[in-house]
Amino acid sequence: MTDGIRELIEAMPKVELHMHLEGSLEADLLFALAARNRVDIGFASEAALRAAYDFKDLKSFLDVYYAGLRVLITEQDFYDMTWAYLSRVRRDNVEHTEVFLAPQAHLRRGIAYGTMMDGVTRAIADAKSRLGITCGLILVFQRQFSEDDAFATLRAGEAFAGHVVGYGLGGPEVGNRPGKFARVFAEIRAQGFKLVAHAGEEGGADYVREAVEALGVDRIDHGVRCEEDGALVQELAASRIPLTVCPLSNLKLRVVQRLEDHNIARLLRAGLNVTMNSDDPSYFGGYMNDNYVATQRAVGLTREEIRTLARNAVSAAFVDATRRGELARSLEAYWAAR
Ligand code: ADE
Ligand code: ZN
Repeated sequence: MTDGIRELIEAMPKVELHMHLEGSLEADLLFALAARNRVDIGFASEAALRAAYDFKDLKSFLDVYYAGLRVLITEQDFYDMTWAYLSRVRRDNVEHTEVFLAPQAHLRRGIAYGTMMDGVTRAIADAKSRLGITCGLILVFQRQFSEDDAFATLRAGEAFAGHVVGYGLGGPEVGNRPGKFARVFAEIRAQGFKLVAHAGEEGGADYVREAVEALGVDRIDHGVRCEEDGALVQELAASRIPLTVCPLSNLKLRVVQRLEDHNIARLLRAGLNVTMNSDDPSYFGGYMNDNYVATQRAVGLTREEIRTLARNAVSAAFVDATRRGELARSLEAYWAAR
């Protein structure tokens, strides 16, 4: 890659649509919070913790990830995590981001809904006023838990729903099919919220189809295994349902063996509405610019494809017309000057 393309990517205004706040907790902050809260995370040093970031699949990652998030106890902890991510990606020229929070992971440890939501939303408000970055919040249900647990979590969070743009589905995919949450998602849709679901990361193309048909999602998180079903690929191209693709995540969790094997360019060239995202940047070795740069180099994205990925994210964001117009104008002005 020429330095020209790297610089072009780094300075480009960006929108991120798939990022787990708990997966943005860097090892240094994780260690600081563990000390502050006297939580034993089972690692002697930051270096030892980072050395454990050698995953063989989604489950081996989630084990480390769920262990790490136990350091989040107070409102200030949730603030610090959210602020650290937002200020970090602002330096990647991210202008708008939509972040996931998994309430069940915290509620079952005895953390109050208000504790996590107050910290996260205070950081989002500060980042908007101090950094000019806007951020939507998406609450993700963990699919390994029951439908009843998802409904109970939804009810427990009703007082905070005004701070939320949508709901999603994460956690161990295989064996926890999207359809398990069809009734939960139907109720949430009726309330007017946006819906997303992880599908087609470790699960096959049938999980992607089920997320679309049984859950009626507005975006698919990952979705890369849709390629195993040619008819589905054509349907996704026709419907233009956005896919929030996370190449470095897919590499770290061995969805692909080499980044060169990643299908993001093929999906884009087949007409799918693909976007670029970081997923769990502290665990997977990269924020937005790292994902764009490494992927561009590995699969040979053209300048026009980089522009299309960024445009797709603007059009797929859960924002009002005014904010979408601002984001679109910023991106188009950037490219017009190139
Ligand atoms: N939670 C955090 N990261 C995830 C991923 N990549 N897949 C499913 N659930 C997740
Ligand atoms: Zn994810």
